[in-house]
Amino acid sequence: MKTILVTGGAGFIGSAFVRRTVEKYPDTTIVVLDKLTYAGNLDNLLPVHDAPNYHFERGDIAHRQTVQQIIERYGVEAIVNFAAETHVDRSILEPDAFIQTDVVGLYVLLDAARQMGVQRVHHVSTDEVYGSVAEGFFREGDVLEPNSPYAASKAGGEMMVRAYHVTYGLHTTVTRGSNTFGPYQYPEKLAPFFITEALDDRPLPLYGDGMQVRDWLYVDDHCDAIDAVLHRGAPGAIYNIGGEHELHNIEVTRFILRTLGKPESLIRHVADRPGHDRRYALTNDKIRAELSWTPQHTFEEAMVATVRWYQANEWWWRKIKTGEYLEYYKRQYAERLAGAGG
Ligand code: NAD
Ligand code: DAU
Repeated sequence: MKTILVTGGAGFIGSAFVRRTVEKYPDTTIVVLDKLTYAGNLDNLLPVHDAPNYHFERGDIAHRQTVQQIIERYGVEAIVNFAAETHVDRSILEPDAFIQTDVVGLYVLLDAARQMGVQRVHHVSTDEVYGSVAEGFFREGDVLEPNSPYAASKAGGEMMVRAYHVTYGLHTTVTRGSNTFGPYQYPEKLAPFFITEALDDRPLPLYGDGMQVRDWLYVDDHCDAIDAVLHRGAPGAIYNIGGEHELHNIEVTRFILRTLGKPESLIRHVADRPGHDRRYALTNDKIRAELSWTPQHTFEEAMVATVRWYQANEWWWRKIKTGEYLEYYKRQYAERLAGAGG
């Protein structure tokens, strides 16, 4: 692949993918298209800013003309779509942008790819499309029962990917990744939010009893899996990407506090997220068998490295935790924390 368009490449996972891909494939041109929403951040791409095979374009995947012009100008052969609204709590407060980007935007991208002869489209989806599972592990063929507006918009987008493969023969692949953590993650998600709050000795609002289970995946492992699927995945195929490390939220919180040397008294049990999925769990059997991918990092080693990164990079997150971030924090947490238990 001579030119890859990475949409949403200024976000958390997209920028990690870009940083790794620019270095790993020096003969491939990487073009980032990103709207730079509140979650997009050019600081995430500073390490590749001067790389000769990297280009940045600001724009919306839902804007057909922008997408078509970029595909034409750079001779795009493959698209990897990370662009999305991604935070479940925000989708509960205001679902509109989720439908617009995660469904309509993805449709525009697929349609432009089809019309302009792009050879491959890889779509980055999520384990949340399955809904919650009390026991056992989700497989790729299982029914989709998304529960939040975010999960529903991601499931809707996936249906459009399927339709473009089946109807038009577009070479598509989809990955469903589990809860991803690492450096450069916007500090609204559990890990970076709790790490940065704890660093300032502020309360950590844990929803409900904190016994919800997530499968934790290090960002570098997630990116390596996407790279494998992009290059070697079967047309039309869907692959789970699990971290193979299930933990209750309270265990993750305690691990972060221990790593920072901060007390557990910072934890506040607050009102639960509406419709909160109790457990996500995936099997990696398919990607392991077909593409020989497995996670290379243990949770403990990767989370310690992540915590240390936030400790060493206050320049990155302190300026984010201002303005709109504080408005959102107030909306999401003020009432919850006021009525919190210890
Ligand atoms: P993020 O919120 O950090 O970044 C999203 C990026 O998309 C931002 O740079 C934003 O500016 C950009 N964007 C949003 N709307 C856009 C639009 N209309 N046009 C162009 N760019 C737009 O997200 P993330 O956590 O890096 O997630 C990336 C992808 O991976 C998403 O599709 C998400 O659903 C999926 N995913 C995330 C996780 C996770 O745990 N973070 C797990 C599995 C799957
Ligand atoms: O599973 C993959 C998904 O993981 C991705 O598709 C999403 O984009 C990503 O945001 C993430 O979704 P979650 O809802 O699982 O992640 P979040 O970090 O918001 O929350 C993780 C768990 O922690 C969840 O059970 C809710 C809980 N939580 C979260 C926050 C922000 C709290 O208890 N308190 C909080 O303040």
